[in-house]
Amino acid sequence: MELGIEDKVVLVTGGSSGLGRALCRTLAEEGARVALCGRDKDRLAAAESELKTSGADAVGVVADVTRAEDLNRFVNTATQRWGRIDAIVNNAGRSAAKLVEESCDLDWEDDIDLKLSSAVRLVRTALPWLRESRGSIVNVLAIGAKTPGAGSTPSSVSRAAGMALTKALSKELGKDGIRVNAVLVGLIESGQWERRAAESNVDLSSYYVALGRDAGIPLERVGKAEEFADLVTLLLSERTSYVTGTAINIDGGLCDVV
Ligand SMILES: NC(=O)c1ccc[n+]([C@@H]2O[C@H](COP(=O)([O-])OP(=O)(O)OC[C@H]3O[C@@H](n4cnc5c(N)ncnc54)[C@H](OP(=O)(O)O)[C@@H]3O)[C@@H](O)[C@H]2O)c1
Repeated sequence: MELGIEDKVVLVTGGSSGLGRALCRTLAEEGARVALCGRDKDRLAAAESELKTSGADAVGVVADVTRAEDLNRFVNTATQRWGRIDAIVNNAGRSAAKLVEESCDLDWEDDIDLKLSSAVRLVRTALPWLRESRGSIVNVLAIGAKTPGAGSTPSSVSRAAGMALTKALSKELGKDGIRVNAVLVGLIESGQWERRAAESNVDLSSYYVALGRDAGIPLERVGKAEEFADLVTLLLSERTSYVTGTAINIDGGLCDVV
């Protein structure tokens, strides 16, 4: 199936690790031009260099998505290099889950800033370019947005707000031909799990087997970052040109809500 994504310019926040890094790889394999950002310069340089070694046209920008000036620099780097933006993927994030009773104001401010306000800012910054290209936006969220459990905040609440943002934006931008969708992640292999396995001194593959078994995932395994990358790439492609305002679970069936 021809995706029609060749030469498209795609911005991926948090493209230096885990799901974002796998997405950059898949987009590049499909011929897209990719700008990726992250805070850690060594991790970013490794991801950028991997893409370039495979022949991709890619650029890494050290940027913290919670800083407006960094997002401006991220967008400017891409537009100065390629003169266009066809898609943005708001992927940067980390897990933050506590009982409400045990959380403080700063926990909430930090989480909303990272997962919601940064996405709003990047959309606003890139919007003139997305209008020109009749582009596409994907917001990476978590299944907790639909099924917030005890001890899942502030993340589940920020993610639910991300779903509302996705729907509102799809209605505001539909007239410009801009599609806006969300993917809701369950448990998928990535840098954050690698770090947790290392912290608990557990071999990574055993860690993933236990995670898949204990979480009650119907498909009885955690997902692969490449499976996430395929879904997002499809959502950004011409093959889903009539899909907007949706929030798709990628979770092996884990979420109780469709
Ligand atoms: N994997 C899962 O099972 C799972 C489940 C639910 C939701 N998610 C969501 O999926 C997204 C990707 O996570 P992942 O699992 O791939 O984790 P990961 O391997 O830890 O990757 C996170 C990426 O985000 C970047 N990042 C974090 N804070 C940032 C900031 N302030 N500014 C710029 N970049 C930032 C990180 O780079 P630096 O640290 O260098 O900045 C890294 O590139 C996140 O939004 C996460 O919440 C993942």
